[in-house]
Amino acid sequence: MKATTLVILGASGDLTQRLLMPALYRLHALGLTPDLRIVGYAKELWSRDHFEKHIHKALQAFAPDFKLAHWNRFRRQLDYVGGELQADGLSALKSKISPFTLFYLALPPALFGMAATGLGEAGFSKAPRNGRRILVVEKPFGTDLASAEALRKEMHTHWEEDQILRIDHFLGKETTQNLMVFRFANRVIEPIWNAQNISQVQITFAETLGVEKRAAYYDKAGALRDMLQNHLMQLFSLAAMEPLAEMNADVLRNHKVEVLRSVVPITAATVDAHAVRGQYRAGKLGRKKVVGYRSEPGIPRGSRTETFAALRLEVDNWRWHGVPFYLRSGKRLASNYSEIAVQFREVPGAVPRAVHAGNNWMIFRITPTEQMDLLVTAKCPGLDLAGQPAGRRIVMTAPYVGAGEQEFSAYEQLLMDAMEGDRRHFLRFDEVEWAWRLLTPVLDAWQSGEPDFYAAGSEGPTTQKRLLDPRHAWCSIAHNGE
Ligand code: BG6
Repeated sequence: MKATTLVILGASGDLTQRLLMPALYRLHALGLTPDLRIVGYAKELWSRDHFEKHIHKALQAFAPDFKLAHWNRFRRQLDYVGGELQADGLSALKSKISPFTLFYLALPPALFGMAATGLGEAGFSKAPRNGRRILVVEKPFGTDLASAEALRKEMHTHWEEDQILRIDHFLGKETTQNLMVFRFANRVIEPIWNAQNISQVQITFAETLGVEKRAAYYDKAGALRDMLQNHLMQLFSLAAMEPLAEMNADVLRNHKVEVLRSVVPITAATVDAHAVRGQYRAGKLGRKKVVGYRSEPGIPRGSRTETFAALRLEVDNWRWHGVPFYLRSGKRLASNYSEIAVQFREVPGAVPRAVHAGNNWMIFRITPTEQMDLLVTAKCPGLDLAGQPAGRRIVMTAPYVGAGEQEFSAYEQLLMDAMEGDRRHFLRFDEVEWAWRLLTPVLDAWQSGEPDFYAAGSEGPTTQKRLLDPRHAWCSIAHNGE
């Protein structure tokens, strides 16, 4: 890695403490970032020492493997400047940066535009010869199609598209990246990865967490914006895209956009057949009683925000015609469980009394563990092939990470990619734009009416069934998670 400066705007905030600094600390401890300088920037007029103390505390709380010896080396990388997001204040960063500098906007989304403009006006978007200037932007990019487009325009006053790295941390997860490798690196997969062989795909991200301390953000966002528009749409595009001719950022992103463009548009008239929303009421998580969404601190009593959203997407191309993709995510569900589950069609012809014959699934699990499962039917042990009551379903499991292998968190992965200039796992604007375009009719329809209620600790609203073909059933959240 070249000598690089990473300026974190929003350095006093939650994201910096909980995710960015622990990731940067670990990369440093592993010896991957010896030449990195990290400059914190925030409105608090702290001294460098104060910032160091703040980060020290954060790492003790959030870095899984905190060691004083590493900290004493890591702290030397840190620096701090306090100021506002206008060019005047930001100019103080001039003496701190190097030719290769990244500006990370770890800020509330409402400030993204202002920060990009301030940095541009202070002259930071113009790289010196042999240098680079990169803007890293957290999600969400806009709150709908119009605001995303307005934000793009504002950012492009000073920054070019290829200087902007939009983060979707799901693209840094092992399972997500493996979707690509596994699909395209194995001769046995690609020939069956199509509508002739696949019956349905279910992408689920279920959490037991509630809204926690994020009421102000979450009540405005809701599950569709928080999880589906970005993370789940990304998993969907990676599962459905065509093979790449080259593993390059633009080819990859072209292919993902191609999938989004092939989705049959949802219209005002078809919203109910393609989308379901829910909100949790009081219930139980194991033995623990939990309150309903409307009784959570900071949530308006009559809030109509959805804490669960499910979609049925249909892709109108040769590969996927007739295969529904079901996407769903929710808070306060029965377990922590997330996966991309692909069900294959039934096999034709007679199989000796194997009732589950053909009920094959290939599952890319994200939580509780990152692993792959293949569900297949096998003969029951015994002497008589035909005399057994049924075939039995066996699960062939392959964990992604073997003993002693190094694992990286999504933020470690993506920060490293950003510093190395690898753009493959960041979103190009047209991906964001297409995802918003597809969901706009749903967002519009959900401006009125109420979500369907579900008890905390359950499988979500029962109405989610209406999205499924009669031959399909939702995978069980309680049964598969932890
Ligand atoms: C975030 C959402 O982007 O992803 C959260 O805002 C969600 O609501 C989180 O809990 C889930 O991601 P992870 O990586 O923490 O499982």
